[in-house]
Amino acid sequence: MKPFLKWAGNKYAIIDRIKAVLPSGNRLIEPFAGSAAVFLNTDFENAILNDINTDLMTLYRYLQKDGQRFIGYCQTFFVKEMNDADTYYQFRKIFNQTGDERLRAALFLYLNRHGYNGLCRYNNKGEFNVPFGRYSKPYFPAVEMTQFHQKIQTATLTNRNFVEIMEMARSGDVIYCDPPYVPLTETAKGDVEFAFVIVAAQPVVTVAV
Ligand SMILES: C[S@@+](CC[C@H](N)C(=O)[O-])C[C@H]1O[C@@H](n2cnc3c(N)ncnc32)[C@H](O)[C@@H]1O
Repeated sequence: MKPFLKWAGNKYAIIDRIKAVLPSGNRLIEPFAGSAAVFLNTDFENAILNDINTDLMTLYRYLQKDGQRFIGYCQTFFVKEMNDADTYYQFRKIFNQTGDERLRAALFLYLNRHGYNGLCRYNNKGEFNVPFGRYSKPYFPAVEMTQFHQKIQTATLTNRNFVEIMEMARSGDVIYCDPPYVPLTETAKGDVEFAFVIVAAQPVVTVAV
């Protein structure tokens, strides 16, 4: 199942390698969910999806709750007349100023698909500041959103710092950790990720992917 968002560091391209080493368990916990590529492609009975990005988790919440109605609303922004720099910057401004949570959630998807490289970046004031992407026909991910809506029904969505989520882990939980990339040295490359299963109070299986 392909994530419906473009997301830096998303693991869809290497999902088979991750699945090959991911332990089994009752509940999947993703403290750094991003596009939720791992959740979407595994079949745990329960799941907690968490990310510190409020815009991301608000979008997921609307999709979880409102399904096709929300997907239809998002699609209204994916028309030819709204794919130019002026409209993009107008929508970006509205996104940064509006108090309408639903509109902001729909515009987050618009910005994700119309902005440069699908980047998600905010300035010091917390304003989204990614430039226009200049794509000839941005793809509207109707199919992927519908699949996401169905899959996410039983998941718990949270918007906290990862530490609080790790503390929620109980016996039998599998935690897939994919934190943002922080280079250890100037020349260091590659993400460090961990998956582990909690069978007691302590994690006993740790796999670096
Ligand atoms: C490398 S991405 C995860 C990619 C994800 N595995 C996927 O397949 O799309 C890292 C994510 O961690 C989130 N993040 C950064 N700092 C965080 C924190 N302190 N607590 C929770 N999430 C955080 C970011 O918003 C980002 O979505």
